Amino acid sequence: MAQDPLLTPFTLKHLTLKNRLMMTSHEPAYPEDGMPKARYRAYHEERARAGIALTMTAGSASVAKDSPPVFNNILAYRDEVVPWLSELTDACHEHGTAVMIQLTHLGRRTRWDKADWLPAVSASHRREAAHRAFPKRVEDWDIARLIQDYADAAERMQAAGLDGIELQAYGHLMDQFWSPLTNTLDSPYGGSLENRLRFTMEVLSAIRARVGSEFIVGVRYTGDECLSGGLDASDGLEVSRLLRDSGQVDFLNVVRGHIDTDAGLTDVIPIQGMASAPHLDFAGQIREAMDFPTFHGAKIQDIATARHAIATGKVDMVGMTRAHMADPHIVRKLMAGQEETIRPCVGANYCLDRIYQGGSAYCIHNAATGRELEQPHDITPAEVTRKVVIIGAGPAGLEAARVAGERGHQVVVLEAADQPGGQIRLTAQSERRREMIGIIDWRISRCEALGVEMRYNVFAEAEDVLAEQPDVVIVATGGYPEEDMPQVGSELVVSSWDILSGHVTPGRNVLLFDDAGDHAALQAAEMIANSGARLEMMTPDRTFAPEIMAMNLVPYMRSLQRLAVTFTPTYRLGSVTRSEDGQLIAHIGSDYLDDAVAQGKGTGAYADQRLVDQVVVNYGARPMEDLYFELKPHSRNGGAVDYDALIAGLAQPVDGPSPEHTQRAAEGSFQLYRIGDAVATRNTHAAIHDALRLMKVV
Ligand SMILES: Cc1cc2nc3c(=O)[nH]c(=O)nc-3n(C[C@H](O)[C@H](O)[C@H](O)COP(=O)(O)O)c2cc1C
Ligand code: SF4
Repeated sequence: MAQDPLLTPFTLKHLTLKNRLMMTSHEPAYPEDGMPKARYRAYHEERARAGIALTMTAGSASVAKDSPPVFNNILAYRDEVVPWLSELTDACHEHGTAVMIQLTHLGRRTRWDKADWLPAVSASHRREAAHRAFPKRVEDWDIARLIQDYADAAERMQAAGLDGIELQAYGHLMDQFWSPLTNTLDSPYGGSLENRLRFTMEVLSAIRARVGSEFIVGVRYTGDECLSGGLDASDGLEVSRLLRDSGQVDFLNVVRGHIDTDAGLTDVIPIQGMASAPHLDFAGQIREAMDFPTFHGAKIQDIATARHAIATGKVDMVGMTRAHMADPHIVRKLMAGQEETIRPCVGANYCLDRIYQGGSAYCIHNAATGRELEQPHDITPAEVTRKVVIIGAGPAGLEAARVAGERGHQVVVLEAADQPGGQIRLTAQSERRREMIGIIDWRISRCEALGVEMRYNVFAEAEDVLAEQPDVVIVATGGYPEEDMPQVGSELVVSSWDILSGHVTPGRNVLLFDDAGDHAALQAAEMIANSGARLEMMTPDRTFAPEIMAMNLVPYMRSLQRLAVTFTPTYRLGSVTRSEDGQLIAHIGSDYLDDAVAQGKGTGAYADQRLVDQVVVNYGARPMEDLYFELKPHSRNGGAVDYDALIAGLAQPVDGPSPEHTQRAAEGSFQLYRIGDAVATRNTHAAIHDALRLMKVV
């Protein structure tokens, strides 16, 4: 049988990469004090152990103090980084994985009010929309010191034993010099393309002078800014040629687009609902024209697309970065002929959106990613087999079932609906979020392989559960839409879930009041506006959809703005009444103007009114908890969770606190837990995390 093109080695200079799969650089914001310590090492080592050929560590590791981290980046300007990176590199080398790092100066793509409070610096005074800092325009002495900073950082990376470095150009200081949109300098660093690349070439020469000709050095850059007045595709080819012909560069890592706005960034790194591998052909064109080692990755989530990228020679190394966050063991599974067991990246972009909000990267449906030190990617079998009954086949219930199945338990799942998925099935109904169903499909296929018994159309009562004689009961019943308006008129409104499920047809003139700020509101808004209705979307929050982070908001805004939806932040729906001619009157208040409305008393004078034919409300979800409270008196632990044990990854005490503290009979027969939205409305990741960390020790 012919060898899988993905599993053929690639020779880069003196380095043999053992297959064609890499993680492109991505800062998961795991550094501690700016250093890649144990958590960081464990994350990369897990993927190395599974066989990835090359891991491009960091993302935007900073070479200078006036490039302070925007998402907890590695501080490559500190000498203490060397031993930390050296440990990480050694750990990955043990498994035959090559390790490189991306170095950068962020230029204007950061802020001045961080770290040492130095001014941001760029090739013009123009600010970047995303980070908002007005930069200082570089002077000669800045250029001189920045070149040295890059060279110093490169030398540190070599000292740490890394196989090479990649300079991040796109959107950062380097291509702020390259792009006519961000370079207002005069010659010799402004003007012609050669002049605009001068800074980069001087950096490369300084680096080579330090690290020699053998050390691998590449550049990650945009081959087309896709911005009027910016670098276009022909400039991109010229840049590629200049880099290649400089003799200083060993590989090109091509992206396409611009990242100075949320919208631009989302086109460079597409999320769910957007096209798969949209820039692969473009990267292939550069590869063909340059005949030079070329890397690329952008929403290549599945093996077939990655294989196509290599088999057709479009790229030499294919990036599957978020795919490896979702499943670190892709290469191992591929080599074992177990492709179908790969946990799919569903493009939810929870990982990337979180880092821009100051969090660290977590995968929406792999709670072990980024928690390698405490949560397992491989579940170990239990010593004692138990009967586990799970109520609810949403993400929490199915993750609990999967993990319990992997532990070797006898598992029964009772689901009220005729198919699995819970809120995920609802959200996946809209085209934009269709990929979310992968979270369910993957778990169902794992559960099938593990012999988990799924029973649908069972609205479980306590006696149904007790009849199973379980050892462990997991209530994962999820939530239902909260419609209780604090004011009068709740019988006149419908919920966003009614719209999403298709139970209610959108009106013609609609007010959508969003008090939860989540996907359900925006999805309902899109459905309503797409039906041709006039729609006003109102929220009491300062900003729109606060639970939807930057990149996830982009496709919604593109669609809603085209559909001429009106947005009204900082106002609150007070109550709804019916007018004499049958229309609905929405009474609008504001937390700023009217305490009575804010407190839900409904007695105050309203700020305004809207005359509409439909009011849709989105108040989030309320836990479906009746079954849990019915089962509680029969359980041994009264549903109690020992949080210390949970956090420490230890088994839960069988009996829990004393009966008088937990409203239960002393003779309870099973352990009872509830997880996910059945406890409190949170999100998919929280639900899956609840399940994993509890069940891995049941
Ligand atoms: C959490 C996270 C952080 C990232 N940080 C960087 C970065 O610092 N520099 C960079 O060039 N790309 C960064 N990226 C982009 C990735 O390298 C990659 O281009 C992108 O994820 C698209 O590839 P994929 O679809 O295979 O994930 C980041 C991606 C993620 C998910
Ligand atoms: S959060 Fe979404 S995009 Fe990120 S790795 Fe997980 S599935 Fe992929």
